[in-house]
Parts: sequence; structure tokens; C-alpha cells
Amino acid sequence: MKKIIAITRGDGCGPEVVNEGIKILKIVSELTDYDFEFRDAPAGGEVWKKYGTNLPEKSFDIIKKSDVLLFGALGLPNLPPGVAESAILKIRQDLDLYINLRPVKLYNVLREICPLKDEFIGDGIDITFVRENTEGLYKNIGKLEKDSAENLMLYTRKGCERIIKFAFEFAKRKGHNKVTSVDKANILKPSQLWRQIFHEISENYANIETEDIYIDAFCQWLIRAPYKFQTVATGNMFGDIISDEGAFLIGSLGMGSSGNIHPGKVSMYEPIHGSAPDIAGKGIANPIGTILSVKLMFEESFNSSEIGNEIDNAVEAALQEGRTVDIESKSLKTLSTVKMGDLIANKLESRLKA
Ligand code: NAI
Ligand code: MG
Repeated sequence: MKKIIAITRGDGCGPEVVNEGIKILKIVSELTDYDFEFRDAPAGGEVWKKYGTNLPEKSFDIIKKSDVLLFGALGLPNLPPGVAESAILKIRQDLDLYINLRPVKLYNVLREICPLKDEFIGDGIDITFVRENTEGLYKNIGKLEKDSAENLMLYTRKGCERIIKFAFEFAKRKGHNKVTSVDKANILKPSQLWRQIFHEISENYANIETEDIYIDAFCQWLIRAPYKFQTVATGNMFGDIISDEGAFLIGSLGMGSSGNIHPGKVSMYEPIHGSAPDIAGKGIANPIGTILSVKLMFEESFNSSEIGNEIDNAVEAALQEGRTVDIESKSLKTLSTVKMGDLIANKLESRLKA
């Protein structure tokens, strides 16, 4: 099975973690029927400095002609906010990547470093955030003036319907028995439309329980009883925020993975963290967020939950032997980005050969 994978390494720690994701893809192509062709599609702050654009036409063309995009992170501390990062929004908008899938699962071996007390972890954390990715405040309709600034929070029926349907289908596929909707319908009109559509669509899924929680209350439930949640559907900005909160519960922002997806079309897989200028270039960034994004790529774009599972198991096995510094354990080796990637690749290799 031949697949073309566009690669955007980006800025800061982006290239360091993407290289480890590629390592995993190469193991899969060596040991299975997959055959990957990698095509570089540079974007971001360093590219902007060189060419005056954060997403050259040539790069975007390569992305559009690929099956998927593996993406690092964009952003440089010496550039004004947005100069590098707006390329991400352009990719999400122009490719209509309306689903932002962000799973957070706490591996048992990382329970000791979860910032929550054991009683709050309960039966464990395994939540998938299904975030609307093209509308709301991030659609970038607004203006910045000297004494005021505004953004329009636009939700459309089409936009709500397609993401909420996906959330229910996802829950069904994963055997989840509940979908939680997070909104602010007591204040915001877009949330009122969202809630109405959530309940309309839920009628088609009699076996799936539904629940509505306001975003502010949800933020406390997420640390008070994360074990209660399975699939969580929400709008663009709320999803951005609660998924970072969720990622820290599983050990580190460096562990959070994501897919920006339009089913059947070019989709983009990336860790949820940014370019991490404070640790970039030190070789210590955690590559697991990127590697788990590759796992999602297999599950959502290549229709292979088997390989997704193998990657997941390889990560879990590796975590019992070594850790990057952000999730380090006194009793285990502390590893660099490359060594952590090597360890996971080795575990995957032996699993795929077995
Ligand atoms: P960040 O996610 O880059 O870093 C936040 C904290 O998490 C830092 O202490 C960092 O060291 C740590 N961290 C991040 N990734 C890590 C990893 N793989 N392993 C271990 N620790 C990790 O967020 P920040 O500092 O707010 O933003 C830095 C730049 O990244 C900014 O320019 C921002 O706009 C951009 N950004 C880009 C994103 C993207 O490309 N999708 C997403 C978020 C931020
Ligand atoms: Mg974010």
C-alpha cells in the first residue's frame, strides 16, 4: 500500500520530534505492506524569515497532493505572535479539516507522575476530545483597532452537524456508551445552536448516553473525575483549552497527540504542543506526542487500528524502561529525544516481527 506523506518539521523542537515520528513510519514500511514516500513541505517561522511567507505555494501544493501530512510545530520567540503560526490555520481552513481529534490516555506506568491524587484518577483516564476545527472564534473574522478588538464566534448548522455526527460515530466505533457535550449555552448563542443540534443528532444513537456540561464546570470535572468521560464533543476554542488540560493529566504536554481530519481527504497529524523554544535544540523534547499522532494517522487515515495498537503497545513497553526528562522516573534511564524514539522503534520492531 503506497502512501505519500508530506512532512512539515517546522520550528523549535518541531524537527526533533518529527524525525522520531518518521522513524516509526520507516519501521512500519520495512515490516508490513505499507510503502511510504516522504515529501518535505517546509513551513513556519524559519521559512518566513527566508521567503517572506510562512507557507510557500510549493509546500502547500505538496501537502494537497499527499495522502496525509505529518506536522511538527510552528512559532519562533523572536517573531510577533501569529507570523509563523497562521500557516496552521490556513492549512486547517483551506483543507477543511473540520475534526480535531485529541485523545488523552494515561498509561498505567505513568499513573505515578499524573498530577492528580490516586483517588481522582479512579479507574483511569482515557478520553477523546472531538473538537470542531474550522469555525467559532478561530475562523478569524474580526478586527483589531487602536482601542478595541473583536472576533466573531460563528457556528453554523452544517459545521455543528458534521462534527457532532462524527463524535457519535467515533463513540460507536470505540464502544463508548456516553458522549459528553461541552458548551456555554447559558451565555452564548452559538452554544445554544450547538446544544440543540447535539440533541437532535443524539436521537439517532439510542444506545449512547448523552450529557451536557458547561465549559467552566467541565474544567473542574476534568480534574475531579476524569474517569467519567469517554468521547467529549466541543467547539473550537473550548476544545483547544480543555485538550491541553487533558494532556497534562497524562504526564506532559509532550505526550498529547492529534489529528486534523477531513475523512477521506488529506489530513494532518501533529503533537498538540508548540515549538517549545525553552527546550528546543537540547535534544530533550518528548517525541511521544508525535509518535502517538502517527498512531492516529494509521487509525483514522489508513484504516489500520492493528498498527495503531502496535504503536500504542510499543510506547507503553518503552515507558517501562526509559523516559524523557519531562516524565522522568528515578528508577529508570532518562533518555534524549532520539534515544526515546529508538527505544519505541525497537519495541515496535519486535512486535511487528513476532
Ligand atoms: P509549547 O507547547 O511550545 O510549550 C509549553 C511548555 O511545554 C514548555 O515548557 C515546553 O518546554 C513544554 N513542552 C512542549 N512540548 C514538549 C515536548 N515535546 N516535550 C517536553 N516538553 C514540552 O507552548 P508555548 O510555549 O505556549 O508556545 C511556543 C510556541 O509554539 C509559540 O510560538 C506558540 O504560538 C507555538 N505553538 C504552536 C503550535 C503548533 O504549531 N501547532 C501549538 C501551540 C503553540
Ligand atoms: Mg492549543
